[in-house]
Amino acid sequence: EANPSADLATTPFRTVPPNRRDAVVVPDGFTNDVVIRWGDGVLPGAPRFDAYDQSVAAAKKQFGYNCDYVGLLDHPSNRARSVLVVNHEYTTEPAMFPAEGYTDAEKIEIEMYNHGISVVEVKRGATPGSWNRVAPRNAPLNRRINVDTTFFVTGPAAGSDRLKTTADPSGTRVKGTLNNCAGGMTPWGTVLSGEENFNQYFAGTIDPEYAASYARYGISATGSRNWGSVDPRFDLGTEPNEPNRFGWIVEVDPRQPKASPRKHTMLGRFKHEGANVIISREGYAVAYMGDDERGDYLYKFVSKRKMAKGRSGAARDRNKKLLTEGTLYVARLVGDGAEDGTYDGTGRWIPLCSDTESFVDGWTVEDILVDTRLAADAVAPTRMDRPEDVEPNLVNGRVYAALTNNSQRGTRFPADEANPITTSQVRDSLDGELTPAAGNNNGYVLEMLAARGDHAAPAFTWNLLLVCGDPEAQETYFGGYPKEEVSPISCPDNVAFDTKGNLWISTDGNRLGSNDGIFRVPVAGAERGNVQQFLTVPRGAEACGPLLTDGDRALWTAVQHPGELDGSSFDEPGSTWPHTDDFPRPSVVVTYRRG
Ligand code: FEO
Ligand code: CA
Ligand code: CA
Ligand code: CA
Repeated sequence: EANPSADLATTPFRTVPPNRRDAVVVPDGFTNDVVIRWGDGVLPGAPRFDAYDQSVAAAKKQFGYNCDYVGLLDHPSNRARSVLVVNHEYTTEPAMFPAEGYTDAEKIEIEMYNHGISVVEVKRGATPGSWNRVAPRNAPLNRRINVDTTFFVTGPAAGSDRLKTTADPSGTRVKGTLNNCAGGMTPWGTVLSGEENFNQYFAGTIDPEYAASYARYGISATGSRNWGSVDPRFDLGTEPNEPNRFGWIVEVDPRQPKASPRKHTMLGRFKHEGANVIISREGYAVAYMGDDERGDYLYKFVSKRKMAKGRSGAARDRNKKLLTEGTLYVARLVGDGAEDGTYDGTGRWIPLCSDTESFVDGWTVEDILVDTRLAADAVAPTRMDRPEDVEPNLVNGRVYAALTNNSQRGTRFPADEANPITTSQVRDSLDGELTPAAGNNNGYVLEMLAARGDHAAPAFTWNLLLVCGDPEAQETYFGGYPKEEVSPISCPDNVAFDTKGNLWISTDGNRLGSNDGIFRVPVAGAERGNVQQFLTVPRGAEACGPLLTDGDRALWTAVQHPGELDGSSFDEPGSTWPHTDDFPRPSVVVTYRRG
């Protein structure tokens, strides 16, 4: 008999088995609704969505493509509502244009405006945990942040020569945000969003002066999206500094729909997955961050000033400056040896710079913040297996990082205790055999404990909570929990926590033959490491979010790139989810117990 509780943190559920269904699958007793889809109206006057007749004018008012991060903030004046903030990471061209009839330039322009961030007012539904979007004409906080939106640059690299362009000789105002992947809600009520694989939008002739920097960020002469053909600022030969204006953490205040969002240079420039803030024991804002690339690093920022208490406008304004001054660190992890049978050890946050002082020989503060990867290389941090979401658990104070995979661990990157797996078991299809493949194919979840519980401290200890994969594979580990009882899990990407401190994990790129999905994992007590699959997303999709709200009665999931299978095309769509059209639509769904 199922527990009648609607609380996803404590209620038992029958785990969702691996599957290839073109549906969002949840346990018996739960249901889910699509809250908003690609193309749904965000701003008043948005035209009815027509995938066969798309335009820039329409896209500017509609929900963008490939939803990733999901944040939900209190509405400032209406208790029945909240404010949903969603990233639109990138576009999937074959799935996005079900019919021909556009020039290449038209497609690029439409795709440009399908990037960015949406802010959408939502209201509670009749069943606890259910939500609906508010009609745009009644939603004054709704906003589409796009490739034209002006961002103010903050912190020590604002105004740097490295950020100056023809359009912005001040180096302080950037048009647009790109490839926004994960993010986090701050304790002062704003949203942070990470600019991740921004390199792909740039191409063109490379001046040798910039070649080393470009190379370290994967910026190439050929690029992959040819946006320079539509807007010359994306042409490297024309605007060599334009790429330096992306790769930042941006901060959006959903209560101020007219205010310019900001790019915070103090948090460094890399392929930011996202950023999550915890307030240290003494009141400093500490942001944890991952740089999602094979062999790249974990970072931490500690603010110079303490968070102002209270909810007044003045306190809020002060707190919105917390990320402009402080110290940026990069992580080095040292194992304590394999003899104890666990992957664990100690760690050190190595300072790179403060807002006024460089800690890397031969580097200025500005250059450290613009070329953060290259500066970090000089202090020998630990080369990790693609750090994705890094998020503090407010219940136990520990920090959890998803290390999604690394096909080159054991070849280009030698193993170490924090990145120990060089061969791992995968399967090609649901009924396929497990077979070994080179590299760390299924990823890890890393648990970090700040020294004395002080997140501002430079020392920490760590362990691999999960070595993901099929529990039948010898190399897997689930926090010591009996393997025969856990769900298979592969390629953790985003993490979240419920109010009881359980870890929730979403995956991207499952290597075990199943669709991606979302898992609940207790991290304390006898259930520690009991990975339970709660949800699967449709074929070809990556599971994003996740986010628990409403006293753990609601689970938000962004279904990103449904149908993005190898060779996916409209002639043979990998998915038509959510089955409202004859093509797939990336959408945000909310899951809750049936009424
Ligand atoms: Fe956009 Fe690192 O996932
Ligand atoms: Ca050990
Ligand atoms: Ca991600
Ligand atoms: Ca990912």
